[in-house]
Amino acid sequence: MGQPKLKSLVRCKDRDVGEVTKVIVDPLSHDVSHIVVKLDDGTERQVGMECVRTVLDAVVELDALSSDIAALPPFVRADYVTTREVEISHLEDHLDVIPGEVLVPLPALEKDIKRRTFFMNFTHAIGILIGLPMVYPVLRYLMKPMYAPFDNEWLKVGNVGKIKEEDVGVQFQYKKKVKEAYMPESEIEKTVWILKATPSVLEQVYQGKDQEFRDPSGRLIWTNKKDVPYVAFSGKCPHLGCAYKWRQHKTLGQVFLCPCHLSIYDAAGKVLDGPAPRRLDALPIRVAANGDVEIIDMEFKAGIKSQVRIM
Ligand code: FES
Repeated sequence: MGQPKLKSLVRCKDRDVGEVTKVIVDPLSHDVSHIVVKLDDGTERQVGMECVRTVLDAVVELDALSSDIAALPPFVRADYVTTREVEISHLEDHLDVIPGEVLVPLPALEKDIKRRTFFMNFTHAIGILIGLPMVYPVLRYLMKPMYAPFDNEWLKVGNVGKIKEEDVGVQFQYKKKVKEAYMPESEIEKTVWILKATPSVLEQVYQGKDQEFRDPSGRLIWTNKKDVPYVAFSGKCPHLGCAYKWRQHKTLGQVFLCPCHLSIYDAAGKVLDGPAPRRLDALPIRVAANGDVEIIDMEFKAGIKSQVRIM
């Protein structure tokens, strides 16, 4: 006897009752064990192959009356999975039903999915509890730099004797020790622009108020006094963090010019042109009696209007 095909007409002893919509395969023997028949009323019944008398090309003849088939319990789709879902699609190679829905019975254990999921989650939870004491110190070590407080150490960058003219940006270089994640501590070269501002530029920088620098908890770190003429600007352009220069512009005169996307700032750090979202970032600065100048190195998030410290 051939194998029943999907869409075959199902004929009982007394009349046609519907068509084959699925076949159920025994995963061990690879034989079709049942056909699923969709009756005229739209419901489905699972019919064992022992009821099948003959399988013709497009018709399956049953050795039963239509009333016997209608009396069978309805087919429960949830008790089966497709051969593709359980990755035994090779079963279909032995069948004449391709393309179509070939089902295999769901293992009994799978049916109790809630219980199984509970035990699976429980096992995972135990695993995490056992592993946590071992993983925690490693994670802490790796993540420590991320949560380290900002470094507010004063760094000496040079002497203001280097500044010969007022309202002219002068670049100072300094070295800073950095520690990133698990990498060993290293030293990087950084730059800061310092100018000796005339009262009018100073007014534009501070707009009549001292500038306070606070840590995330609100604690005051330092105040740049509005009447101290030395102003320090972070060496990074607030647009995307490029290094900018002090340059002569053909119409604007002397300006800070960022070559990356041509943001232009005046001596007070105000944006004159280009995509920069905010003025240059002023840094805490103090000048000793002998002219030595120190700054607190701070970095702020680039590309945004507000000043958000990130380092
Ligand atoms: S980074 Fe300076 S203008 Fe874009």
